[in-house]
Amino acid sequence: RFQSSESFNHLIVVVLVTSVLRHTTSKINNQARPGYNMAEITNDCTNNYQESTLTSLLKRSIKAKEHSHSPYSKFRVGAALLTDTGEIIDGCNVENASYGLTICAERTALVKAVSMGFKIFPAIAITTDMEEFIAPCGACRQVIAEFGLDCDVYLVKSDLSFKKLSISELLPMAFTSTDLESASMKK
Ligand code: THU
Repeated sequence: RFQSSESFNHLIVVVLVTSVLRHTTSKINNQARPGYNMAEITNDCTNNYQESTLTSLLKRSIKAKEHSHSPYSKFRVGAALLTDTGEIIDGCNVENASYGLTICAERTALVKAVSMGFKIFPAIAITTDMEEFIAPCGACRQVIAEFGLDCDVYLVKSDLSFKKLSISELLPMAFTSTDLESASMKK
């Protein structure tokens, strides 16, 4: 009887430890995954901007959609880019009758910002008219990564709910200027 109660206790300990571990890992894995509403986020602005700035950024991405030139796809996209000095530069997708010349909203915002003299971007917000969270295309991920792998990427829906990811998550093993530098060192 002593033996069986000991193995029962052992079983309880194993069950408890496994469930605690499972809970912790699922928390870590899901950290950036679910959509949040503004009310649920406090102190979540990892790149050192205020929650009120984040609200403005999300709203500006939605507003930017209004200028979308998308007569072919009818897929409106808006983006808003936060600069290190707190400015917000927005952009929309600009399509062309020669389809391949289309410029995405994210790249419109980036090219606008860089040509105005900005180079450091703590965050970018991207929105469409879709009911799901839409992530930036591969080309835009690469262009965002050009200006740093720390950029917070907010996927935003019209009700201001959002999903936050980092550019390194969206573009693992990014090809960057560092790769070019290490190539020139070998010459
Ligand atoms: N589009 C963007 O603006 N950003 C993306 O990251 C993905 C796609 C635009 C390009 C085109 O005007 C429309 O969405 C459909 O592809």
